[in-house]
Amino acid sequence: MARGQIGRVALVTGAAMGIGQAYAKRLAEDGADVVVVDRQAADATVELVNATGRQALAVRCDVGQPSEIDDLARQTQARFGRCDIVVNNAGIYPVQKFDDITFEDWRRVMSINLDSQFLIIKAFWPGMRERRWGRIVNQASDTFALNLTGFSHYISSKGGIIGLSRALASEFGEYGVTVNAIAPGLTRTPGTAGRDVKPGGPENVDEFAIASSHQSIKRVMVPEDLIGTLSFLASDDAAMITGQTIYVDGGHVRA
Ligand SMILES: NC(=O)c1ccc[n+]([C@@H]2O[C@H](COP(=O)([O-])OP(=O)(O)OC[C@H]3O[C@@H](n4cnc5c(N)ncnc54)[C@H](O)[C@@H]3O)[C@@H](O)[C@H]2O)c1
Repeated sequence: MARGQIGRVALVTGAAMGIGQAYAKRLAEDGADVVVVDRQAADATVELVNATGRQALAVRCDVGQPSEIDDLARQTQARFGRCDIVVNNAGIYPVQKFDDITFEDWRRVMSINLDSQFLIIKAFWPGMRERRWGRIVNQASDTFALNLTGFSHYISSKGGIIGLSRALASEFGEYGVTVNAIAPGLTRTPGTAGRDVKPGGPENVDEFAIASSHQSIKRVMVPEDLIGTLSFLASDDAAMITGQTIYVDGGHVRA
């Protein structure tokens, strides 16, 4: 296992479970201490980080609340005095047809998925600029490239994330700070549980079976399928990769 991140501090949002938990564990295995951020308790992730010999700081934070992000920055600074790698993973993906989406629903998705990334980058990028090294990885989604109904707010937020990553790559590059996005395909996590069983009526579909049938690699994705890409983008080896969106989806879309 590469230990190239020893001495660095990584922060992962939405790290109590699912993809964020797998990301936090992998960055710890790579040698980083990890700020484990979630709106719910993340004891299991803290244990996984500590089992690698690295330190974990768990911060309860709803990334949709700007004041809680201020507090997250304060706690990170107080414990580690720095943050070198930011992984903006937290996100929600409610299924709603456009006609059913209220402005409040729209704002909630934008605020948790996109505004949070803006605010967290605002909080941690100045330290990266000062040290002239940083890695920012933002979680997008391959739905941005798919013909899909029921996700207009979600897909818009993920499109915004891809745009933000591209634009900030241009501004941050001269300081040795890269900004990239990962666009996963449908992945089995606690949040997507049940999408293979929708009993009754025309919506009786197994979304995992459909997604994997469209992939070149025809099996259902799990969080571990994403961690190698994250580990690489966060590493010194990826110093010349910035502004990119890497689709990790078994070949479902051609980006
Ligand atoms: N699972 C997939 O199929 C898939 C595909 C493409 C993209 N993604 C993206 O990957 C990310 C993680 O997805 P997942 O399937 O692992 O999700 P999940 O629902 O299994 O886990 C999400 C975690 O984020 C936390 N979280 C949610 N809202 C939060 C908030 N406001 N503040 C702090 N923490 C919050 C939850 O508590 C949970 O621990 C999301 O951004 C999602 O859009 C997932």
